[in-house]
Amino acid sequence: MDEHERPAADTAAHLDDVDLVALAAQMGTPLHAYSASAIRARIDGLLAALEGTDALVCYAAKANTNLAIVQLMAERGLGADIVSSGELWRCLRAGIPASRIVFSGVGKTAQEIAEALEAGVGRFNLESRDELETLQRVAAAAGVVATAAVRINPDVDALTHAKISTGRAENKFGVSIDEARHWFDTAAEYPNVRLDGLHAHIGSQLLQLAPIRAALARVAAFWRELEQAGHRVASIDVGGGLGVCYRHGEDRPIAAADYVAAIRDALQGFGGRLLLEPGRYLVAEAGVLLTRVVRVKPGEQRQFLVVDAAMTELIRPSLYDAWHDIAPVLPSGQPAMRYDVVGPVCESSDTFARDRQLPRCAAGDLLMIRGTGAYAASMASTYNSRPLAAEVLLDTGRYAEIRRRQSFSEMIAGEQSVRQWQTT
Ligand code: LLP
Repeated sequence: MDEHERPAADTAAHLDDVDLVALAAQMGTPLHAYSASAIRARIDGLLAALEGTDALVCYAAKANTNLAIVQLMAERGLGADIVSSGELWRCLRAGIPASRIVFSGVGKTAQEIAEALEAGVGRFNLESRDELETLQRVAAAAGVVATAAVRINPDVDALTHAKISTGRAENKFGVSIDEARHWFDTAAEYPNVRLDGLHAHIGSQLLQLAPIRAALARVAAFWRELEQAGHRVASIDVGGGLGVCYRHGEDRPIAAADYVAAIRDALQGFGGRLLLEPGRYLVAEAGVLLTRVVRVKPGEQRQFLVVDAAMTELIRPSLYDAWHDIAPVLPSGQPAMRYDVVGPVCESSDTFARDRQLPRCAAGDLLMIRGTGAYAASMASTYNSRPLAAEVLLDTGRYAEIRRRQSFSEMIAGEQSVRQWQTT
């Protein structure tokens, strides 16, 4: 069975041997459910493919930042790729050692850099000259030497959705190889920064190896050039981006073994440490969003299936026109219909699917939206005053609540009526 094939037990009413109908009845909907077994299988598969390589997998926490999910990564010895102080705090709390954390992102503030240095973060992936200078300043003030990599923008087309492409020259991420070369040549000006790593991340939901190979080839050529010039390259971080199957029978993801083989091939002879930053690959397909049909609304032109989940729980279709498979949890034997599956939020973009074929549905039916383990709960909002949904972790027949459904008072925690006006 390939790694993206759904096990038979998971095609109907069960996920990780937990009865989804009973689960929805007990926990209410909308509900995020994640299979711990599926996540562990992904981690173990990737680690097995990397065996024999000095590699550290740094889970891109943004994909799903729930503490219990990050803990699954920590239990398997993974590190984390973070982009904010908030993610740093969560990952440390989940038990990821600071030394296994890499800090990426174009907008790290001096304050965030100071906090990360204080925590002992392993590596900063630097994205601009100004950031390099800020790191130097903050590290000098703290009396420490920070370890850093330069994020290269290899200017390749990742062949994915424009909004999740990051490796073109026009994107805000990384710096050109010319600029990176200059950083290495002037490294003596930054005595509190040990610049000894390269980093590249060209985009997300990559389903083709060619752009990955193209980016790796550029990084590898630059590494060789640097070594010849006498610079030591201790680590190469190949970023994340490994795609998953959102559309059964259509999306053909890259197998972990093929991905790792492409990396090994491109970096032949590299004796340093390899870093990987997968997010989606580890968690997306382990999750489903359970939602109930509120009503069927016949429109002038189309039939609307109004469900109780919304863009507040899963914004990917609204933001990127992303496809997520949707299915009734219990096969009903009803004839096929075509529906626009929509949420209750007051935005036309609050649409999970247009003109989607589904068995005829009725109010109260339980549906699952698949592939929601990544970039769903972590991108949630309380728009339209919808409290954050509950999340549960499933594990071989058992389940545990890992985020309780937000109450109204939790939703407005921090808001207050005007007690006192102040002037600056
Ligand atoms: N490393 C860096 C520097 C990143 O910016 C990202 C993702 C990753 C690793 C992890 O990428 P992954 O393996 O998950 O593809 N919200 C979008 C995805 C945004 C990805 C942002 N950066 C979506 O739902 O498709």
